Amino acid sequence: MDPDEYFNRTRMVIVAGKGGVGKTVLSAALARLAARTGLTALLVEVDGRNALAPLFEVGEIGYEEAVIASATDDSAKILARSITPDTALVEWLDDHGMKLVSKRLQKTGAIDVIATATPGIKDLLVLGKIKQLVVESDADIVIVDAPAAGHAMTFLRAPALLAEMARSGPINTQAHAVLAMLQDPKQCEVMLVTLPEETPVNELIDTAFQLEDDVGIQLAPVVVNGMYPIIDGLDADLSGVKSNLGAAKIDELRAAGDFRQQRSILQAGQRARLAEMLPLEQLVLPYVFDADIGLPQIDELADALAEAIANIELPGAADETAGDQ
Ligand SMILES: Nc1ncnc2c1ncn2[C@@H]1O[C@H](COP(=O)(O)OP(=O)(O)O)[C@@H](O)[C@H]1O
Ligand SMILES: [Mg+2]
Repeated sequence: MDPDEYFNRTRMVIVAGKGGVGKTVLSAALARLAARTGLTALLVEVDGRNALAPLFEVGEIGYEEAVIASATDDSAKILARSITPDTALVEWLDDHGMKLVSKRLQKTGAIDVIATATPGIKDLLVLGKIKQLVVESDADIVIVDAPAAGHAMTFLRAPALLAEMARSGPINTQAHAVLAMLQDPKQCEVMLVTLPEETPVNELIDTAFQLEDDVGIQLAPVVVNGMYPIIDGLDADLSGVKSNLGAAKIDELRAAGDFRQQRSILQAGQRARLAEMLPLEQLVLPYVFDADIGLPQIDELADALAEAIANIELPGAADETAGDQ
């Protein structure tokens, strides 16, 4: 499947997974790949951590939409914005004719009081704003760098929870509208990321089933990030090798080779386990050994992503090939 075709299947990809597995890096790589294919991508950060900006070597990303990178093709670009509950609430109140109220609330810090009184309301506000972007933005694809781990579930469950809690009124309306978006595969899907390690894989499996059962959201292929490239010859027998390195050095080399080989075997085992437990395609991204992750490394990962996407067959694509025959 072409990346272009891939991105055209849906309006929004929500990138989710345990903290530290590479959500922010993957979000950036997806945006670069989309831009490379000639699409405009809108990157949305929701945890207020300003983690995307350094990857693109720009300053802080704010609430207002800003261009953070031009792709080689001038027509394609990457836009970004940071949406926090506070900014989303102020805008919501303003839009609903409550400018004065919102000014007062901002001044007195009462926003936190409202949010604490209604669980899920912060998440619903952010998702409501995202929904508006999905509908109104000129971007071809919206990429959301979702909150970490447990919060991602709370975040995506909030609309269902509030639809149930608030039986009528604006919160009910908003909750239903957001839920409808989450449940429509043409509008959104969740891309779960993991490292090829025991705990993150277990968590990914749990999250995947919960998202399907509780939210009814479409799951994209899962991303296995940080796979060590296979190096041939690591298990070579060094015993007969003549070298002026000396026996101690050769032993050290053998130990390092063994360690690396073991890591690769463990990683492959976790991938296989994930495949067995979860019937979703896997997109594999390599571990990048550079000291810092910046734009060149993100582009390297975007290359790997393009290759992985090229190798998958999703229902839509399979139908097309069947039609060609
Ligand atoms: N494929 C990779 N190779 C090397 N380092 C990576 C890779 N993916 C992520 N990292 C690094 O791992 C750390 C966590 O990644 P990040 O995207 O911030 O995770 P998350 O957003 O899920 O918390 C960062 O320091 C990032 O640079
Ligand atoms: Mg992050």
